[in-house]
Amino acid sequence: MSEEVRQMFAEIAPRYDIANSTLSLGTHRRWRKRAVRLSEAGNGMSVLDCATGTGDLAMEFKRAVGADGNVTGTDFCKEMMQTAPQKAAAAGLDIHYETADVTALRYPDNSFDITSISFGIRNVDDPSQALREMARTTRPGGKVVVIEFGQPQGLFGALYNLYSRYIIPTVGGALSGKKSAYSYLARTSAQFPAGEKFLALMRETKVFSSVSATPLTFGVAFTYIGIKKR
Ligand SMILES: C[S@@+](CC[C@H](N)C(=O)[O-])C[C@H]1O[C@@H](n2cnc3c(N)ncnc32)[C@H](O)[C@@H]1O
Repeated sequence: MSEEVRQMFAEIAPRYDIANSTLSLGTHRRWRKRAVRLSEAGNGMSVLDCATGTGDLAMEFKRAVGADGNVTGTDFCKEMMQTAPQKAAAAGLDIHYETADVTALRYPDNSFDITSISFGIRNVDDPSQALREMARTTRPGGKVVVIEFGQPQGLFGALYNLYSRYIIPTVGGALSGKKSAYSYLARTSAQFPAGEKFLALMRETKVFSSVSATPLTFGVAFTYIGIKKR
């Protein structure tokens, strides 16, 4: 499964950013800024952004930790990271990128103040293992930050469902040339154990002293934060 996922992202990589910005109407940028604020990332901290893709969350973290901090972006699909170094350099941000699978990170224990993953954990075969690996490489008292899609409820939820089922695959397919990747996005987002269910999964790992969820845009997405046990 993970090789199919990696291959799918390799194919859409060149058009990922344009599809992302069009389909979210730019909202993803606000979500990332909010998640970084919630993480309380500050000057001089070290951050590992997993499944970084084209590097937008890593860039947002770098803005928060400043020149004294350091940010590493990793992904198991090198094609997805291809444009990330140029994007960061163009924004005047010094970020290190390397290939890594979030379920088997090669960094020592307690290496980072914060580890993060945005819109990546939904694609991972074993999300609990990803959370455990992220927590292992985070220092005690540090934070694991996850942004992932949810399933909004009520009238807004019904409208969003229509958007997700019909518009996302059609527009995403037209922009990327790969409709199946955007049907996959809609399907996996609808099935993802969001909100309380994801908090339960985080608790089951037994690596966090506390976990929290903050809805973004009425629950279209959530930011989850787990504080690593001391
Ligand atoms: C939807 S993209 C999100 C990219 C980026 N984080 C963002 O917010 O735009 C999902 C990313 O997860 C990566 N990914 C999926 N499974 C992974 C794994 N096991 N280890 C590392 N990266 C993974 C994919 O290669 C892809 O770049």
